[in-house]
Amino acid sequence: MCGIVGYIGDKEAFPILIKGLKRLEYRGYDSAGVALLNGNTVLYKRKGKVSDLEEHIGSQEVSGKIGMGHTRWATHGEPNDVNAHPHKSFNDKFIVIHNGIIENYARLKEKLIGRGYEFDSETDTEVLANLIEYIYLKGDVTAELAVRLALSKVFGAYGLVVMCKDEPDKLIAARKGSPLVIGVGKGEYFLASDATPIVEYTKSVIYLNDGDVAVIKKNELKLKTIDNEILTPEIQELSLDIGEIDKMGYEHFMLKEIYEQPKAIADTFRGRINSDCTNIHLGGLHAVWPDLENARRIIIIACGTSWHAGLVGEYLFEEFARIPVEVEYGSEFRYRKPVIYKDDIVIAISQSGETADTLAAIKLAKEAGATVLGICNVVGSSIPRETDAGVYTHAGPEIGVASTKAFTAQVTVLTMMALKLARKKYQISEDQFNHMVKELTLIPEKIEKALELNDHIKAIAELYKDCTNALYLGRGFLFPVALEGALKLKEISYIHAEGYPAAEMKHGPIALIDKEMPVFIVATKDSSYEKIVSNIQEVKARNGIVIAVVTQGDDTIKHMADHVIEVPETPEHLAPLLTVIPLQQLSYHIAVMRGCNVDQPRNLAKSVTVE
Ligand code: M6R
Repeated sequence: MCGIVGYIGDKEAFPILIKGLKRLEYRGYDSAGVALLNGNTVLYKRKGKVSDLEEHIGSQEVSGKIGMGHTRWATHGEPNDVNAHPHKSFNDKFIVIHNGIIENYARLKEKLIGRGYEFDSETDTEVLANLIEYIYLKGDVTAELAVRLALSKVFGAYGLVVMCKDEPDKLIAARKGSPLVIGVGKGEYFLASDATPIVEYTKSVIYLNDGDVAVIKKNELKLKTIDNEILTPEIQELSLDIGEIDKMGYEHFMLKEIYEQPKAIADTFRGRINSDCTNIHLGGLHAVWPDLENARRIIIIACGTSWHAGLVGEYLFEEFARIPVEVEYGSEFRYRKPVIYKDDIVIAISQSGETADTLAAIKLAKEAGATVLGICNVVGSSIPRETDAGVYTHAGPEIGVASTKAFTAQVTVLTMMALKLARKKYQISEDQFNHMVKELTLIPEKIEKALELNDHIKAIAELYKDCTNALYLGRGFLFPVALEGALKLKEISYIHAEGYPAAEMKHGPIALIDKEMPVFIVATKDSSYEKIVSNIQEVKARNGIVIAVVTQGDDTIKHMADHVIEVPETPEHLAPLLTVIPLQQLSYHIAVMRGCNVDQPRNLAKSVTVE
């Protein structure tokens, strides 16, 4: 979604802003712009990529030691040059960039038009810029007060940066529902939607909380609430490393992240599983174990790939810990008046920690008195701050829009939680527990083995890259993998794909089967193996094409399927961690062969901060 960068200090702002915008490209956007103050206002914006903006600016001089940059993901108004940010106010006093949605913008716009204001764009942001200016001019107040008063009149979500031509020594930033991070340098400050544009300049950061307003001069930072209560900024140290946000020689971030999975999983269980695999320690949940043990029910809330990880979690918690689980989409849960009990445990899963629907669902669950836990990848993001307790996945930054290593890291955390809970509730024996924990620690090296099949998978991709539809089937623990395989294919290669529980095929999708459509079947040796073998036969009986992900050495399916991809043997509870790998590789290769923008697929955003 939209990305924000800002700079104030003694350096030329423009190169910092452009580099920052490039760091934020992964979030997804359709236009970009920059504005600087240097006695005058310098403002350039363009539909398209940051490189289009650079081309548009060309050799024109862009100097100034204070400035802001923005990548826009359209919500109000089509992606074009005019709707791109930054937006100037009508009398040129203010320049604003904004992430989020001002919900009452139409009414405010009407009132401002009534007071003589004219608008260039269709955006809610220009309304905000004009509202700030109107208050500033009418009330003869400071820019900061005008911003705070304006914000008290808007509904919705924002991450916001404002510059005022009359007060060119400061940036004013505010947050409600859309993240903002301040980087603290020596005699300079940086601002961004996440830490990636900041980390190469400083590791000292301040995460703004909802309702915070920051007034930033090059040597001074004042933090307060919208109502002018003074706050003490909490400076935190970034653990992010600059190398983690580079492609490191890979053609795409997605490919790098697929290959990082052995490390991401190992990093996620490192320090949490003891050396002889007899104990799991999840420090972030320490205070809530009694609640977990006594939970009436677990509700897992997430979106997209994280929701698929949640489905695996359902199977794990129910099988091991014998607690009923419901898995909900944040967007449905928040609006459908769900029944939530005080002794429910709600687990929100999110890579970014900023997904608007998941955050709203968390708020609802908290209001109902449930204990809310988070499983998140981005440290310091909103979800870990909104939840009562939680566990970080240590997958490292995930830049590719298609989630890969975040999924396997989330499943790793869910596995540890389910096993630990099962042990505490005496639902599994010590031997079973130790065996499963040991098996989990073997997963990284088994993924290394699975990754060796890259050339074989690429050859399969070559055969099916031109298909227009694909079906993904799986049963039990492998049903969520089928869903995830289908999502990966559709989001980066734009091929229509559906994931189904294999037995449901007979209730509809079987009608689609013909000799054109590949059917990807996840069929490793598990408790429903015989059943899925029958499903494969059903597809073959109708001249369907079967590409099966199977357990190494499986001769039965090899004789039925058109192609098999063999992954190492593992207990069925852990099979999602292995079987998803070839499906990620397959989607990746198909998308590359089709010439798609793998890391930034059309219309998609990495963190979906609007509902
Ligand atoms: O950051 P989150 O995990 O909350 O994001 C949820 C979804 O937006 C995300 O998983 C999305 O579906 C990915 N593009 C899938 O690859």
